[in-house]
Formats: sequence, C-alpha cells, structure tokens
Amino acid sequence: MNQLVKGLSILGLSLALPLAAHASEPDLGKGAKVFKKCAACHTLGDGEGNKIGPNLYGMFDRPVASAADFNFSDGMTARAAEIGTWTDENLAEYLTKPRDYVPGTNMSFVGLRKEKDRVNLIAYLRQETGAAPAAEEAAAE
Ligand code: HEC
Repeated sequence: MNQLVKGLSILGLSLALPLAAHASEPDLGKGAKVFKKCAACHTLGDGEGNKIGPNLYGMFDRPVASAADFNFSDGMTARAAEIGTWTDENLAEYLTKPRDYVPGTNMSFVGLRKEKDRVNLIAYLRQETGAAPAAEEAAAE
C-alpha cells in the first residue's frame, strides 16, 4: 500500500469510528422511560423478587426461561432451547412482538414497535441487570 493511501485510510477510520459510535449511542434516560412499560411486571435489581414476570437481574448471556423460582409458560419453555441465551439481538426480536417470537408466552405485552425504543431500553436493561455495556463487551473480544 502506498503511503498516501495508507494515510488516508487511517484518517478515514479514525474519523468514521467516533461518528458511528455517536450515531448509534443509546439514550439511557429514554431507556428508563421505556422500562416503565415493563415495571408493572418486572424488577431488575439483584435479589429483587419476581412479579407477574420474572426478576431480570443477570438475564444477559443466561439461558432463556431460567430465572430462579419462576414458573415459565409451556410456550416459553418449549422455545428456550432454540433461542439459547439472551442477547441484544434475540431480546430485540422478542420485545418487538413477544407473541410472535415465543408462541404461547404468558407475557401479555403487545411489543415495542420502534427500533429506537428497543435500543434505548436494552442499553438500560444491560446497565440495570449487571451486564457489561455492549460496547465494552465488543471491545473486550
Ligand atoms: C403484563 C406483564 C408483563 C409486561 C408488561 C412485560 N412482561 Fe416480560 N414477562 C412477563 C411474563 C409473565 C414472562 C414469562 C413469560 C412466559 O413464561 O411465557 C415474561 C418474560 C420476560 C423475559 C424472559 C425472561 C427470562 O428469564 O427468560 C424478558 C427478558 C422480559 N419478559 C422482558 C420484558 C420487558 C423488557 C418488558 C417491557 C418492554 C416486559 N417484559 C413487559 C410479563 C410481562
């Protein structure tokens, strides 16, 4: 690679990275607001109890439907092995339309139609449930 091209591509990379990070940066405050839709049924903190839905502390990278002392629906239990563990991606799918992603789920929630709401909420959930922020996790890999 000649020096000019090399120099340009390094410059391009260093300019593109902060821009990309900024454009997709989730808003935790907005995420907290979105969580109000979930708070009737879910707690997030370590050791907090289950409500209508399970406590979500530690849910990221944990197998689906494995929260302690919670009686999951047959639909959720049946789907759990296919989904595997909760990630940002499959959680976003579940939250878009819970009943489509997990047929027979007991979670009576219509879904989050807006991608922004899902992104902000998932970042907030990571923070509140003791998971590494997505960016740090990626950097650590
Ligand atoms: C009306 C009550 C209710 C609302 C509102 C609700 N949930 Fe749930 N949620 C449940 C129930 C009940 C389950 C268990 C589902 C099953 O067993 O089929 C569940 C399951 C889950 C699970 C799977 C947990 C695990 O350990 O596998 C996640 C994640 C989740 N909910 C997140 C959310 C989020 C985020 C919101 C808000 C956008 C939300 N829920 C809104 C009742 C609710």
